[in-house]
Amino acid sequence: MSADPTPSSSRSVSTLAVVGAGSVGATLAYAALMRGAARHVVLYDINRKKVEAEALDIGHGIEFMPQGTIEGSDDLEICRGADVVVFTAGAKQHPGQSRMDLAERTVGLVREVMPRLVAMTPDAIHVMVTNPVDVVTYAAQAVTGLPTQQLFGSGTVLDSSRMRYLVAQECGVAVQNVHAYILGEHGDSEIPIWSSASIGGVPLLEWPGHGRQPLFDVGVRERITHEVITSAYRIIEGKGATNYAVALAATRIIEAILRGEHRVLPVSTRIDDYVGISDVCMSVPTVVDRGGAVQRLLVPMDDAEIAGLRASADHIRSVARSLGF
Ligand code: LAC
Repeated sequence: MSADPTPSSSRSVSTLAVVGAGSVGATLAYAALMRGAARHVVLYDINRKKVEAEALDIGHGIEFMPQGTIEGSDDLEICRGADVVVFTAGAKQHPGQSRMDLAERTVGLVREVMPRLVAMTPDAIHVMVTNPVDVVTYAAQAVTGLPTQQLFGSGTVLDSSRMRYLVAQECGVAVQNVHAYILGEHGDSEIPIWSSASIGGVPLLEWPGHGRQPLFDVGVRERITHEVITSAYRIIEGKGATNYAVALAATRIIEAILRGEHRVLPVSTRIDDYVGISDVCMSVPTVVDRGGAVQRLLVPMDDAEIAGLRASADHIRSVARSLGF
């Protein structure tokens, strides 16, 4: 079914291709159009009825969005010529399952689909969202041979937004004024970087609490860290999947690419020689613009944070190695 007969390869407007019309992919297509992140969205899924229904349902709301178009198909050809391709297809995380538990099935899908996808979108920026996103990104890069600047993962953009949300709630300041990162794995071994976090320019660790005590003492930091790491499990337990925040995080990445924003985001890229870490995909602060993930930034970290990041890298690498990468 196509709401727009123009072949995607001949379109002049920015085209976003979303692979997978599950809850994340469909929400991402909706969010990208709602925010005007892309003018044309193509949605692909093997389930023809589902993908056509999602495209139709979103299309019926186009009147209420910034100008845009959407089409859905079970033919991968619909992605041809897209400017940005976001990969959301894969196994669903069930209650109690870790993201890494999905690795074998998802990597199999990457081996099957990515070569065909890249052949029809050789110049696109590819963003992997499917979990375990760091292992999936590493595998996709190995399978396609694309450089890390052109193929990377959504990483801990979502986790960092969860941390910022909780910090903002704790101190009563707008979340947009909280600058803090979760780095490493998008998953159980992720690391909060408290030492260089700031709120409105004030070092987070110096933010005043009651009396002369800092607000973010060890107990508060541990509570927030635990809440961030367990967020997805809690949401999946309650509603079966997470979709809104991860779709918005991916939309933020798409905007940085298509608008050439030079925005710093903790996306998952192939790391070589970052605080002694190499040969793994994981999240560190990275400048994202039209060329993709163009520059990694070395943010100040204390020894414990660096040790945690190295342990996270080891965990991701061990899973990738177990799958033959
Ligand atoms: C989450 C999924 C996207 O953290 O891994 O919500």
